[in-house]
Amino acid sequence: MANCLRSYKGISPQFDNSVYIDQACVLVGDIFLDTDASVWPLVAARGDVNHIRIGKRSNIQDGTVLHVTRKSAARSQGHPLIIGDDVTIGHKAMLHGCQLGDRILIGMGAIILDGVIIEDDVILGAGSLVPPNKTLEKGHLYVGSPAKKIRALTQDELNFLPQSADNYVRLKNEYIEEALQNLPT
Ligand SMILES: CC(C)(COP(=O)(O)OP(=O)(O)OC[C@H]1O[C@@H](n2cnc3c(N)ncnc32)[C@H](O)[C@@H]1OP(=O)(O)O)[C@@H](O)C(=O)NCCC(=O)NCCS
Repeated sequence: MANCLRSYKGISPQFDNSVYIDQACVLVGDIFLDTDASVWPLVAARGDVNHIRIGKRSNIQDGTVLHVTRKSAARSQGHPLIIGDDVTIGHKAMLHGCQLGDRILIGMGAIILDGVIIEDDVILGAGSLVPPNKTLEKGHLYVGSPAKKIRALTQDELNFLPQSADNYVRLKNEYIEEALQNLPT
């Protein structure tokens, strides 16, 4: 197993060879990455006290931290971290025990706390903070700390969300190609 991948209680990150995992990130424990997902330098993700799921074509950009909350008497499932398909997580975001649907952009440096639900087709502005247990509604832009609903997304923005994920699929394919070319002979 590469240095950036670690097991916890015998469980290791799971993924197929379409996934790009940069060598300079750290992924620990119960993490599943679906087809064509990508994880960029300096991401730290710990699926130790609960699990992390990252959907198809989703990208987790540089410096982002992903973590979860354990099960308890008060909350039998704890807070796993679930990220849907075609999601872009900008640089240096912090996602903790929350659930994201499909086609979402999380702006750089955003902080999302336990129990938050982000429905499909949402943009969260850079530097925003979403307090615990809030729901961000489908098809809207939210910004600020605490994050507030600003307006419905335009059609251009709705179109951009899957395009952003596609751009990262192309980029990670180039990185995979380069890594294969540089394998020691
Ligand atoms: C949220 C975002 C998409 C808004 O874009 P926009 O088209 O400028 O939005 P609007 O013009 O409708 O702005 C609405 C209001 O929110 C404010 N605003 C925009 N982004 C904001 C942010 N990140 N935090 C706080 N306020 C913000 C605008 O100044 C404006 O306020 P005003 O009405 O008082 O002038 C953009 O600013 C952003 O944060 N993008 C994230 C990019 C990113 O991190 N990508 C990931 C890495 S690739």
